[in-house]
Amino acid sequence: MEKPSSAAGSAEVRPVQQQDSLTVVDNRTGKRYELPIQNGCIRTNDLRKIKVNDDDFGLMSYDPAFLNTASCISKITFIDGDRGILRYRGYPIEVLAEKSTFLETAYLITHGELPNRSQLSDWAFHVTHHTFLHESIKKFLDGFHYDAHPMSMLISTVAALSTFYPESKDIFNAESRKKQTYRLLGKMPTIAAFSYRHSLGLPFVYPDNELSYTGNFLNMLFKTTEIKYRPNPALERALDILFILHADHEQNCSTSAMRGVGSSHADPYCATAAAAAALYGPLHGGANEAVLRMLMEIGSVQKVTEYIKRVKAGEGKLMGFGHRVYKNYDPRAKIIKRAAYEVFDVMGRNPLLDIALEVERIALEDEYFVSRRLYPNVDFYSGLIYQSMGLPMTMFPVLFAIGRTAGWIAQWEEMLLDPEQKIARPRQVYLGYGQRDYVSLDERI
Ligand code: SDX
Repeated sequence: MEKPSSAAGSAEVRPVQQQDSLTVVDNRTGKRYELPIQNGCIRTNDLRKIKVNDDDFGLMSYDPAFLNTASCISKITFIDGDRGILRYRGYPIEVLAEKSTFLETAYLITHGELPNRSQLSDWAFHVTHHTFLHESIKKFLDGFHYDAHPMSMLISTVAALSTFYPESKDIFNAESRKKQTYRLLGKMPTIAAFSYRHSLGLPFVYPDNELSYTGNFLNMLFKTTEIKYRPNPALERALDILFILHADHEQNCSTSAMRGVGSSHADPYCATAAAAAALYGPLHGGANEAVLRMLMEIGSVQKVTEYIKRVKAGEGKLMGFGHRVYKNYDPRAKIIKRAAYEVFDVMGRNPLLDIALEVERIALEDEYFVSRRLYPNVDFYSGLIYQSMGLPMTMFPVLFAIGRTAGWIAQWEEMLLDPEQKIARPRQVYLGYGQRDYVSLDERI
């Protein structure tokens, strides 16, 4: 049984200096309070000492959608939204996209350091040897309609994995967590590919352990009658870069779901299913599918201006634009845009690219978007690549989930091992009725 280690980040926390404090005066009572500032934050619980009398519960902070609330201390991913900076464990995303692979990046995110040669080989061996699904899983995948959305199939199947691996409930056993990590990373592509093949009425293609992580995914998606599937190296590399770019993104909506569900000590499969469910939303990981639908709705370069006029009139959002944190160009969008051209060299130029480029050109000059600091995000160009690879729009959020599984697992484990963390249970501001007497049915109007 592993005991939680010291608080994540506590080793680097600068001790509180005298001047690191907030002096507040409660004008209701005239009392002064000193609130320590640490790591650029106050502990919201310190507000509870600010009361008007001894019966007072004390002050809370009210922050709908957590616009300005840190839920945890983390050492995994750093984002500077104003400067468009994204780093995994200190390594810039641009460097990892150029020099790393998804499996190596997944090791970095989950372990905190880049692997040496033997660590990477061992890691790849174990993930590769956990790509198979229990044969029973095929039975309920077949139960879905042919047109079932593959993201719903993935969410359901990931949750079902907890029935095959009940030992995963032993969440404070490091060996068990490691095994579930191999299984989740290994099986996500298989579940995704099986869902895709089901939608086409094609037989499932089993994993080929001689291929790379991403090469095997392409094999399970696209293999037909050939004896051995040979992935196109350019597509294999482009997809691997996309998985790297999607691997983690600090406390986004789906990661917060992973941490929240995990904080009740549910097993990692149920927590991952909840995270994938959050990712499915069109404001989050479902945006890459919504971008393609938007570009198809626009239909031509000439109609972009008209569409943007409607967005500015409040008739909808420009999908793939804007971000809670990035108030500059999402660094991932720049990398994806470059990778897109490499895919188009192989598969032919996606005709929707011209519409996307025109949307970007107009939006980046338009005061409505500039004043709101809305730039292309990770989802704006990724769908164009996936579509050019021959994947349907419904598979786009599924691809996002494959990459993000590495981040979900790392954030889940960091939460479990942080002694400051406990079950997530926010407060509320109650503005409903005071106590009322029950009115019998006969007396109701
Ligand atoms: C991802 O959190 C993460 O890190 C997420 C992610 C990750 O890797 O996990 O980066 C992945 O989810 C990327 C985002 C994908 N979603 C979309 O592309 C959907 C379109 N974008 C928007 O829905 C929106 O920008 C959000 C949801 C991404 C962010 O919303 P916020 O931070 O709550 O911002 P907001 O809605 O308060 O917007 C501020 C203003 C509003 O206008 P006003 O009310 O001030 O007049 O900007 C407007 C919004 O209406 N606005 C947009 C817009 N996004 C914001 N207007 C038009 N089109 C948009 N896309």
